[in-house]
Amino acid sequence: MRKLAILTSGGDAPAMNACIRAVVRCGEEFGFKVVGVINGYQGLIEENFKPLELKDVDGIITQSGTILKTSRCDDFMTEKGFNRAVQNAKKQNFECLIVLGGDGSLKGAERLQKAGINTIGIPCTIDNDIKSTDLTIGFSTAVNTVMGLLGNIRDTSSSHGRICVVQVMGRASGELAFNAGMASGAELILVPEVKTSENEIIDKVQKSIGVGEKSVIVVVAEGFGTAKDVASKIKEKIGIEAKDVDLGYVQRGGLPVAEDRILATKMGITAVSMANAGESGVAVCYKNGKMRGVPLPQATKKRTAIDTETFKINNIISV
Ligand code: F6P
Repeated sequence: MRKLAILTSGGDAPAMNACIRAVVRCGEEFGFKVVGVINGYQGLIEENFKPLELKDVDGIITQSGTILKTSRCDDFMTEKGFNRAVQNAKKQNFECLIVLGGDGSLKGAERLQKAGINTIGIPCTIDNDIKSTDLTIGFSTAVNTVMGLLGNIRDTSSSHGRICVVQVMGRASGELAFNAGMASGAELILVPEVKTSENEIIDKVQKSIGVGEKSVIVVVAEGFGTAKDVASKIKEKIGIEAKDVDLGYVQRGGLPVAEDRILATKMGITAVSMANAGESGVAVCYKNGKMRGVPLPQATKKRTAIDTETFKINNIISV
């Protein structure tokens, strides 16, 4: 019996379930028995496995989160824990292990591949910080979620003529803050990839107030700093109270948008097709409209730059 394993690791991302569904259904088509590893790499260490059948993935395409649960597994980073994971995977005789997660999880897949466990990675994170793919699963939904929340904040800020500073996730990446901020017409977007001085922040906020703006929305990527610090700096320098909001974990949930469901389904199908052809040691990446396998050592490199040309022009027009 050919066995295919799948796990989700690290921060959850919208449409992970759509990807799990595609792997299970496509795996069945190729004659695999698909086994879910529960709770990420911790499940590999604890031999926490669950056979996945067609009925188990019925309807999950519409749900965010992951039916397999996930974890940030410290044990997996220890030699003892890692060796146990390798032994357990070998004992199960998986033809291939498909790992859904961000750069850290894909690095774990790379380690397993080196230890003789066939793995294929699928990039899932709301951060969109993996250089070898134009999009990671979860990013498009998070952009829409944050854009909607920024719209809610605009409604109330414009009623009160307020300045509101909003902190957005993304770890060391400004992708989420930049795209959601641009889509919501935020007056100022602060990201780690673009140096913005204190004076530039104050000047831009004053300029927005000066043109008679009913409200001013400043979006801060968490990799740049905190909304609290930026708000207090604005109050200190301009003398106007600025409210600060940290959007937190609402950014990781919500109905997966169509773009993410389709991306997740295509990546899941591609991963199973590769496994069926005996390929491994790669991540499924989406580049220029096409799916391709990128060797894991290259696929785990983080994106460190954003489209600065567009960023700068947007900064000019968003007063
Ligand atoms: O990597 C996804 C992410 O949501 C980051 O944007 C954020 O900084 C981090 O996970 C939060 O991690 P945790 O869920 O462990 O608090």
